[in-house]
Amino acid sequence: MQNFTYQNPVKILFGKGQIASIASEIPAGAKILVTYGGGSIKKNGVYDQVKAALEGRQWIEFGGIEPNPHYETCMKAAELARKEAVDFLLAVGGGSVLDGTKFIAVAACFKKGDPWNVVTGAAHAEAALPLGCVLTLPATGSEMNTNAVITRESTKEKLPFSSPLIYPQFSVLDPETTFSLPPRQISNGIVDAFVHTMEQYMTYPVNSPLQDRMAEAIFSTLIEEGPKTLADPTDYEARANLVWSATLALNGLIAVGVPQDWATHMIGHELTALHGLDHAQSLAVVAPSLLKVKSDVKREKLLQFAERVWEIREGTPEERIEQGIEKMRAFFESVGAPTHLAAYGLGAEVASEVANRLQKRGWLGLGERQDVTPVQVKHILLLAA
Ligand code: NZQ
Ligand code: ZN
Repeated sequence: MQNFTYQNPVKILFGKGQIASIASEIPAGAKILVTYGGGSIKKNGVYDQVKAALEGRQWIEFGGIEPNPHYETCMKAAELARKEAVDFLLAVGGGSVLDGTKFIAVAACFKKGDPWNVVTGAAHAEAALPLGCVLTLPATGSEMNTNAVITRESTKEKLPFSSPLIYPQFSVLDPETTFSLPPRQISNGIVDAFVHTMEQYMTYPVNSPLQDRMAEAIFSTLIEEGPKTLADPTDYEARANLVWSATLALNGLIAVGVPQDWATHMIGHELTALHGLDHAQSLAVVAPSLLKVKSDVKREKLLQFAERVWEIREGTPEERIEQGIEKMRAFFESVGAPTHLAAYGLGAEVASEVANRLQKRGWLGLGERQDVTPVQVKHILLLAA
């Protein structure tokens, strides 16, 4: 096992009715900015619950944070936060609202030029407003991690950044707030959580049986509970299990002491930025092909995945690896996430487009061994055509 330092300060308020507790989690006297997206919270009663919980508190709101949150929109919110001397942010929505709010928290405090530099890595976050979250879409794990992914609309760049300053102080996970999700977003949540787990598991062995089994438990839970929660969106128990799986898939716990990949995500972000695929759709396209192309260096973990997650024990190692990957592909398809570019109206030319972009950006080696070159990225996307 590799050395690690792990500290996760996020307080989780899980279950029915937990929105009512938020006021006691926010410092008395704080001026609160409530942030949200395109309006789903006004239709499903979540906005009303938040309003009731904040009764008597001083708060203003900023709506309109879009899926794959835009830098341009978040800068407006940061400006508002500064102008109104806001001292606490409350994100109410999915991963995009939360990621956007994390960026707003940093941008509102940033004094050394353009906060976009924090996203590109040219500068570090200096400070951030404290934030809390009411999560309405289980997928990203943003509710319990230090990451945010921001899109600059003007240049179509979608980039992640990370800082311990943007851990939420608390996150409310009430599965009932997710009952109103359309099937496509539930499907996205299942696939995103699955691929997060994959990015931290499907590398090479470092003698970390506990992290491996925790990751395998998340895979198996998603495989069992995903179809149940799609079939019956108001089955509380199944949805609760999806919500908690998605959080555990990316709260840092399964990543401790092990190598991590993240090439699928970096390639997927380009498909979203250039062609508008939902985040999880982009992962469903890239992941099976990437595992095929990297099956030599991921061999041991692919064999373990095939056996422990899919119970594949017959055949040569190559056959078992192939079957494991195909089982994963079939699972993504079965929950409603097509795994080929063609299903999203995209042709093979996308492969060169993405590879050239990464080359230009100097991203010459992705993955746990930094060996996923632009040439391999092209190959991966051609395989996914
Ligand atoms: O904007 P509203 O009206 O709220 O509608 C949203 C949006 O249209 C809707 N929605 C959310 N909760 C709902 C609901 N509709 C009905 N009922 C509800 N309860 O769902 C749509 C998609 O929402 P979005 O927040 O974009 O989805 P998701 O949570 O999947 O977030 C995706 C974003 O997170 C980033 C992705 O790149 C993408 O930008 N990621 C963030 C990560 C992180 N911070 O650690 C890691 C991930 O790998 C991912 O990259
Ligand atoms: Zn993801």
